[in-house]
Amino acid sequence: MARLISRVDFSIVCVTLALAISCRAWGSTTTLVKTPFFIFGDSIVDAGNNNYIDTIPEMQANYKPYGESGYFGEPTGRFSNGRLIVDFIAEYAGLPVIPPFLKPDADFVYGVNFASGGAGVLPETNQGLAIDLPTQVKNFDKVHKSFAEKFGEEIAKELISEAVYFISVGSNDYLGGYLLADPKVREDYNPEQYVGIVIGNLTKTIQVLHEKGARKFAFLSLAPLGCMPILKALNLDTSKGGCFEEGSAIAQAHNKALKIVLASLEYLLQGFKYCDSNFYDWCLERINYPAENGLENGIDACCGSGPFGGTFTCGKTTDYQLCDNVEYRIWWDSYHPTQALYAPAAKYLWNGSRPSVGPNNIQGLFNAKEKQIIADEVDDPKSQPIIY
Ligand SMILES: *[C@@H]1O[C@H](CO)[C@@H](O)[C@H](O)[C@H]1NC(C)=O
Ligand SMILES: *[C@@H]1O[C@H](CO)[C@@H](O)[C@H](O)[C@H]1NC(C)=O
Repeated sequence: MARLISRVDFSIVCVTLALAISCRAWGSTTTLVKTPFFIFGDSIVDAGNNNYIDTIPEMQANYKPYGESGYFGEPTGRFSNGRLIVDFIAEYAGLPVIPPFLKPDADFVYGVNFASGGAGVLPETNQGLAIDLPTQVKNFDKVHKSFAEKFGEEIAKELISEAVYFISVGSNDYLGGYLLADPKVREDYNPEQYVGIVIGNLTKTIQVLHEKGARKFAFLSLAPLGCMPILKALNLDTSKGGCFEEGSAIAQAHNKALKIVLASLEYLLQGFKYCDSNFYDWCLERINYPAENGLENGIDACCGSGPFGGTFTCGKTTDYQLCDNVEYRIWWDSYHPTQALYAPAAKYLWNGSRPSVGPNNIQGLFNAKEKQIIADEVDDPKSQPIIY
């Protein structure tokens, strides 16, 4: 069975095994990597891209008290008090912290975070203030190209198809883009039509990523948007403590439409694998019954001012309040959850089981191998045996 293999084949084995090992071939050493993790979307997952763009303070989180729970030791641009869902998932996958695309001199070999606070599926959502989803996909192309330059086209392709693509997007299209938008938008489209536009464009983005070689997708569907302190505080039609029905209803309609689209893409797109979840219900359970879930207060933002802490002043003016039990709270600021909610959310997506999380959980996506396993290839007389 001992047979010489080309350098390229050998490197592919290293990638296929998804081990961070040094592959020595022809006297050169290339350190190849684990399954990369690519992250797209909005402030739920932005790890600091907006620190580097020209925008407004409301679209940034690189000042105190953001990050005050200390994991990173300083405000990083994460829109929370500590780590985000994707930070926990990277840890479970055995990866280091995934750097923002715009961070100078970052090492992208374990993955890249393209997300941008304020971004929507539609380019017109917060236009000019955030990196919209189509631009995030263009930035992904640059990374693909840099992989090809660094490792060769073959291995770059391998990395792209083994990678897990995490997508958290849509909230801003419905918040700034619809519920809180110029009333004209709401005259032009009823909620069903607007959901159709958002989902139509999101579907297109998924197809584009698939054409570029992406295979394993994890989606963070929308939380009950009407329970965000910002919407409750605007008191659109809610009674004390209740959630704004229209906000939650449009999030549910989006999630339902996404579920249907994903099930059909699984049939239409070759090799398409995905993780979806009932994140909406998972959140609502905690918002409604915090104590039963090891948390406190599903109503008020920890950092902010006004009713429900829903006025978005956290870190922006001198007159915001900060709660003293953030390690148990659900809402960090008027829009964003705490690390206390993100940590169990990451476990839920990583380890959850059907029907609540599926058809794959994220752990399953990381473990799934696009390439045939080596034993299969050795048994297949058509393929090159690989010895190591
Ligand atoms: C994408 O969004 C635009 C508005 O930005 C809309 O006109 C178009 O119909 C949407 N495309 C799909 C496929 O839904
Ligand atoms: C996943 O589930 C297993 C079994 O329930 C558990 O041992 C493990 O700690 C979980 N992993 C994470 C990251 O929660």
